[in-house]
Amino acid sequence: MYICTECGALSAKWQGKCFSCGSWGTLEPRESDETSAKTSGGKARATHALSETQMISEAHRSALESAELSRVLGGGVVAGGVILLSGEPGIGKSTLSLQMAAWYAQSENPALYVTAEETLWQLSERAKRLGIAAANVHAAALSDLDDIIETARESGARLIIIDSVSMITSREASWGAGSIVQIRAVAERLIHYAKQTGTSIVLVGHVTKDGAVSGPKILEHLVDTVLFFEGVRYENYRILRALKNRFWPTDEIGLFRMEAWGLRDMPNPGIEFVKHRDASLTGSVLTVAMEGTRPLLVEIEALTTYTKFGYPKRSSRGIPQGKLDLVIAIANRYAEAKLDSYDVYVNISRGLSVAEPGIDLALLAAILSARWKYSLGNAVFLGELSLTGTIRPVPSLPERLKLLKDLAFETIVLPKESESKKIWKHAQHVWNIEELVALFWSKKS
Ligand code: TYD
Ligand code: MG
Repeated sequence: MYICTECGALSAKWQGKCFSCGSWGTLEPRESDETSAKTSGGKARATHALSETQMISEAHRSALESAELSRVLGGGVVAGGVILLSGEPGIGKSTLSLQMAAWYAQSENPALYVTAEETLWQLSERAKRLGIAAANVHAAALSDLDDIIETARESGARLIIIDSVSMITSREASWGAGSIVQIRAVAERLIHYAKQTGTSIVLVGHVTKDGAVSGPKILEHLVDTVLFFEGVRYENYRILRALKNRFWPTDEIGLFRMEAWGLRDMPNPGIEFVKHRDASLTGSVLTVAMEGTRPLLVEIEALTTYTKFGYPKRSSRGIPQGKLDLVIAIANRYAEAKLDSYDVYVNISRGLSVAEPGIDLALLAAILSARWKYSLGNAVFLGELSLTGTIRPVPSLPERLKLLKDLAFETIVLPKESESKKIWKHAQHVWNIEELVALFWSKKS
């Protein structure tokens, strides 16, 4: 058998190009696994009642000083749990993981930070800047897997940070650092160590600018928890998303602010994401998006420009392209927006990304506001769109309305629902797009 050193695909014969990932010259002969062929020699082992194991697992979760990080982890760091923390270069993964080690070490449990990318000096400069001087956070500049495992065993650390997993080399897997086969071998050994000793491990991974590099991708199904750290370079907020968590429902987010001395929790976001907005401009509409269990006030911006060329442009930042195409189709069909001869650009302000359907109505309103040059002021739009031109209620309405109430917003446009009547007196109800258009014109005249 041959194995591709890029993607790990197996092939029965050698060929110049990998059939799976398309890389050239990456197939190498693979040593056979004799172990898998053996069938006898197994022994019956003890089993445990599930009620018993649940009691064990609850006792093994350590809450952290950062409520935001604990929230994303479902309450804290699970003993023996392996977390993959990925994100673009420079977003703050090393900063977050060093702070995590310090937060964790407050519980008296020692933590070990293995740096394979930066020197110890760089790491200690960072620690100084972050004000971390805990005696039970240890650091080591290592890149050899066997050394790391021995060091971890000696140190007795209960949490180990590996920054980053792609820089670690294993003597067993013979290809260079960073190759997929190598990363997988390293991760498998570390995961085994975590499970065997009950140590929690954070693997820091990289993601390139264009989204996905296969390295961390293949790790996603091996680890217990996948966290993705995102944000925009020139903005100081950061969002930590749980993409997978074997110990907790996912889709929870943690919000942080990157300050000169590290990451700080951002527990109650209010108008942070819509600051400096000019409500008199056309094409700008407010909505509340749910991220996990938490409502965020966001601004959707739209621009439409007349074009003589045959195929109009549709460009989107922070909103899935498919959603934009759909909302444009709905605008054309039910609001007679005649966007066939208009380029349409949409954006969520401050570099946020939102995919949930509760923002559809606001997206439509922003496009119509731009197209008809009519400002919607501080009205907040909450609704999902259906292909039939009706507007549907959004889930988690009470949470969204509560945020708007706390922020003293007055005008809100949404489909009628019993819950909103109780909470909101100034709601304007729209059932379908004709009513939305009528609302536009009634305000304009
Ligand atoms: P870093 O954690 O090195 O990112 P990653 O490991 O994901 O590549 O963070 C890099 C950026 O964070 C860098 O541009 C400087 C900024 N930063 C702060 O703003 N405040 C701080 O306290 C620290 C340590 C970094
Ligand atoms: Mg780093």
